[in-house]
Amino acid sequence: MWESWSSLGWDVHLDWHPDTGRPGLADALRRAIRERRLGPGTALPSTRALAKDLGIARGTVTRVYADLAAEGYLLTSQGAPTRVAAGGTAPAVPAREHPRTTTRSRDARWNLSPGRPDLSSFPRAAWLSAARRVLLEAPPGVFDYGDPRGPAVLREALARYLARSRGVVTDPERVVVCGGFNHAMAVLAQVLREDGELAFEDPSLPEFRATATGNGLSVTGVRVDEHGLVVSELDSPAVVVTPAHQFPLGYTLAPARRTALTRWAGRNGGLVIEDDYDGEFRFDRRPVGAVQALAPERTIYVGSVSKTLAPSLRIGWIVPPRSLVEPVRAALAATGWRAPSMDHLILAEMLTSGSYDRHVRQRRLAYRKRRDRLLAALPESVTPLGISAGLHVVLLLPSGVPEEDAFAAVARESIALEQLGRFWIRAGGRPQGIVVGYATPPEHAFTPAIEALTRSLRAITR
Ligand SMILES: Cc1ncc(COP(=O)(O)O)c(C=O)c1O
Repeated sequence: MWESWSSLGWDVHLDWHPDTGRPGLADALRRAIRERRLGPGTALPSTRALAKDLGIARGTVTRVYADLAAEGYLLTSQGAPTRVAAGGTAPAVPAREHPRTTTRSRDARWNLSPGRPDLSSFPRAAWLSAARRVLLEAPPGVFDYGDPRGPAVLREALARYLARSRGVVTDPERVVVCGGFNHAMAVLAQVLREDGELAFEDPSLPEFRATATGNGLSVTGVRVDEHGLVVSELDSPAVVVTPAHQFPLGYTLAPARRTALTRWAGRNGGLVIEDDYDGEFRFDRRPVGAVQALAPERTIYVGSVSKTLAPSLRIGWIVPPRSLVEPVRAALAATGWRAPSMDHLILAEMLTSGSYDRHVRQRRLAYRKRRDRLLAALPESVTPLGISAGLHVVLLLPSGVPEEDAFAAVARESIALEQLGRFWIRAGGRPQGIVVGYATPPEHAFTPAIEALTRSLRAITR
């Protein structure tokens, strides 16, 4: 994390030449802030220290700081260091001639990109105390190369957690720890290579489809309706599904479709890859358990901590049918993967101490409130899809309003989110919508982000 650069002696590259004087220095600072070389909250050197460093008059630095504070880049306050402002790093994004389907979250003032938890809610204290316990108690062997399936204590803790919270049928020998869903996809593509083809829900996340094709599989799309995957249209040896909360449309796989899916797998020797990416976050009732429990020998269950803790941890798990445990382990080892045991042991400690469950419960409550507040604030002209669950919601636009118009309007308010169009496999005749990640902004930015969103939606749907 950035801290005071003068007191800690950290070096910051300022692209500045003395001949460019005050305007040049202001530009160099703006650039450093926009490019996040000076992140939000960073304390700048005192005017005296910077003037001395750069060999210029102190008054020049004072005026540059004042200009940048007026522009919203810096926060000044009497008796405290001048700091980089949180929102000042992102001046409003102008509408583009050729709009993209995504505003890059780092360019935007309000980050409503789907797929992220609120990163500021990471349970630092719980992680730290679990890390302390692990480091105090672990034998030297934990610093060696470990089992490619992950340390036994994590596999044991996960087996208990998945059975308890998601109804997964498993035991520690069946759990393979990996680096998240996308990594699992790359590994499973090696295992499924002989089949050659993998079906995905249409719509679904294009990055995972790209991982499958990049690893030698061909990809087909299967339609989704308000009951989830249309199982009767399946015509591939294996399929990736999001039964708890279809991504991105937000439906749950209906009981009859769950039965149909497991029957399809049994009848055709088919394989179901269950992406249980946000199964912990059901708000209106207890979550429906994993499909895996209905057909454990025909389902490869996959989950990760990307929504519950943080995507940067890169920790996920695969629970394959018994017959595929060894092929999955071998495919994982063949990629050169060695489990980062230290983080795995910390997660195991959090799972056994109950601090993981406590964090998930607290986040569930927080995201439920956010979802309620978002839906209450929306103009009636947009239609939210799906069940009360998860970290994102699809908003259908009124007929006649194209996604590009909504995207340009939210970009004018400097909001990052995604167009629904990005997720379809087959083009044409699709409903127009946007995908809003209400879990993403930190707590203090949630209300203004929602206000900006509703303003932009009112502007286009009036
Ligand atoms: C549908 C879906 N599945 C899974 C994940 C988690 O992916 P990973 O575990 O690779 O971070 C995401 C994250 O955005 C997702 O949107």
